[in-house]
Amino acid sequence: MKTDTGFWMRDAGKDNYHKVLLSRIQYPASGVQYPEFRFNVLYSSWKGSIMQKKAIPLKRANRLINDGCTILVTSRHEDRESIITLAWQSPASASPPMAVISVGPSRYSHDLISQSGEFVINVPPFSLLKETVYCGTVSGRDGDKFAGAGLTREAAEIVSAPLIAECIGHLECRVVNEVTAGDHTLFLGQVAAASVVEGLWDEVWQVDREAARTIHHLGGSFFCAPEKIVTI
Ligand SMILES: Cc1cc2nc3c(=O)[nH]c(=O)nc-3n(C[C@H](O)[C@H](O)[C@H](O)COP(=O)(O)O)c2cc1C
Repeated sequence: MKTDTGFWMRDAGKDNYHKVLLSRIQYPASGVQYPEFRFNVLYSSWKGSIMQKKAIPLKRANRLINDGCTILVTSRHEDRESIITLAWQSPASASPPMAVISVGPSRYSHDLISQSGEFVINVPPFSLLKETVYCGTVSGRDGDKFAGAGLTREAAEIVSAPLIAECIGHLECRVVNEVTAGDHTLFLGQVAAASVVEGLWDEVWQVDREAARTIHHLGGSFFCAPEKIVTI
């Protein structure tokens, strides 16, 4: 029998993280556990300080996507991963916090999300519009989208899919349901961790600050960004 444990190791004195798979081999006939351990570095992730992020209460998690922003969803299964641009997403439950994403079955990300049971919603700022369109027009089947878009992997707190360091907010989700909706699949994800860039989110996105403006897809090649907070 082989028991596997995945965990993150940090280089001493550095900000490099390595996802490591620790396997222990047990032989069922004798029941003896041999002190044989195998380390496999699954992937390494730079965890630096492009932007300082803070965890936020999960009861507020849905507010990161409440305004219907276009998102970049990362997923990872074994050694395959991708980033998919999605306009079709929504908060779905307040308690526990859940979000729903709509993904076409032909997308490379579709099976990664379905097989891993996890995904990360990354909220790109408007300044990442070009990268967002890139991730929505090429497939992870054809190459590494992080490299293609010039984006940086960052280790997630809970799930194995990476965060996109340049994004301003992140929701780490575990799939709790998968429903076919016509020609798309709805993945319902329970939010397990939520974080935002310090200073850009104070109970809501501070969209009067340029760096906090999210991307909104009007359809086709048309996009817009919110600029003003109005309270009533
Ligand atoms: C602005 C924009 C919004 C998109 N929204 C969705 C969506 O909601 N659902 C979906 O399945 N595909 C959507 N797409 C298409 C996917 O992002 C695209 O097919 C992508 O290349 C799939 O990547 P993958 O094969 O690596 O998963 C969108 C594309 C763009 C540019």
